Amino acid sequence: MATESRLHQLFPTLVQTSTIENSQALNEKLLRGVEAIRKVTPNTKPDDWTCSVYTTLHSPIELLETDPFTLLKPIILQEVQRYANATGIHAPAEHLRILDAWLNVYAKGDSQELHIHQNSVFSGIYYIKAPEGCADVQFQSPMVDTMISPPIFETTELNSTAAYIPAQEGRMILFRSHLRHAVLQNETDDDRISLAFNLDIA
Ligand SMILES: [Fe+2]
Repeated sequence: MATESRLHQLFPTLVQTSTIENSQALNEKLLRGVEAIRKVTPNTKPDDWTCSVYTTLHSPIELLETDPFTLLKPIILQEVQRYANATGIHAPAEHLRILDAWLNVYAKGDSQELHIHQNSVFSGIYYIKAPEGCADVQFQSPMVDTMISPPIFETTELNSTAAYIPAQEGRMILFRSHLRHAVLQNETDDDRISLAFNLDIA
């Protein structure tokens, strides 16, 4: 028999959620920006995505250099610094580099398959519009490919392979770019609108 036994929780996966100040007024401005962009910007959903969603991912728009989306730039930089500080990553403001940013609009029935954000360090999502009951973002455990699934008698954070974070207007989610995630099928009549972004450290 053991005289002492401990569990060591190694290598946690850290996802930060932040509630952005005065987001209602901010989102009203951003929504007008989204409408203006949608009028003139075709869907640039990559051919190899099987899901249905409107995205500006491959459009040439420099979103965070464009009014009103520039309003989000200092907020993104501040929240990434918070995440970096909390996780012990050396990422001084002058070395943080926004690589890209794009809009995703989910109508009823739209979703986004599991993916990672290649060639970046930090990734994030900000919710401009999130109707009640709209689709969650799902994060998948990095362990999922390496484990033989044993039978589970109680699902907890210690054994689950997926976690869900609800979309909420004014919420920003930050995570490391290698973390696989998806958007479940959206069931709301109103659009769910998010802005996604990637950063690295120069
Ligand atoms: Fe993503």
